[in-house]
Amino acid sequence: MRDLFDGDIVDQRDVQLAPGAMLLAGFARPLEGALIDAVNAIIARAPFRHLFTPGGHRMSVAMTNCGRVGWVSDRTGYRYDPIDPVGGHPWPQMPAVFADLAARAAAKAGFADFRPDACLINRYEPGAKLSLHQDKDELDFNAPIVSVSLGLPATFLFGGLNRSDKTVRYRLIHGDVVAWGGPARLAYHGVMPLAEGEHPLLGSQRINLTFRKTR
Ligand code: SIN
Ligand code: FE2
Repeated sequence: MRDLFDGDIVDQRDVQLAPGAMLLAGFARPLEGALIDAVNAIIARAPFRHLFTPGGHRMSVAMTNCGRVGWVSDRTGYRYDPIDPVGGHPWPQMPAVFADLAARAAAKAGFADFRPDACLINRYEPGAKLSLHQDKDELDFNAPIVSVSLGLPATFLFGGLNRSDKTVRYRLIHGDVVAWGGPARLAYHGVMPLAEGEHPLLGSQRINLTFRKTR
């Protein structure tokens, strides 16, 4: 390993979750203000809503999107849709601060030239959770998934390519970024029920931005 130079940023919590999957601790922290302002502008036009699964269950996580297309779920299935079905208009554009952050994080995790066309924005309130799943509604599995955590801490589950594979729990805090692609692109992952708490900037919620290249 090369020697460290003055100015290198080393975070002891950076960790490889699996080959192709990296936790970049605090990577988004310097942009917290700009990211939160951008989320607020997006939700003014495309408010958070609780989607229903094809099986008819109301999701505990509230969602919205920005970008060319947005991820939606309803009785007919999951899809990426250029139109917000609540407002009947296109999703808000992806802000430059989002796209730049996602590309820089992907590059640091080993995925050059990541250009996401969708950003799913998840809002967890205490008790909200996301069951173990794969992100597989995209047409392009060559591009990674980049996930940015803001607000209250969460316990993230990261497993293997089979639902029954052992999962490892990671604590994700405000500013953490996780990127997974290559051999980990279809890894199962999920979020445990959010614990009560109060974050100085975001109150009693966790906001997660998940960047995808859908085609
Ligand atoms: C997701 O899998 O879409 C979200 C993951 C997270 O909230 O950390
Ligand atoms: Fe996911």
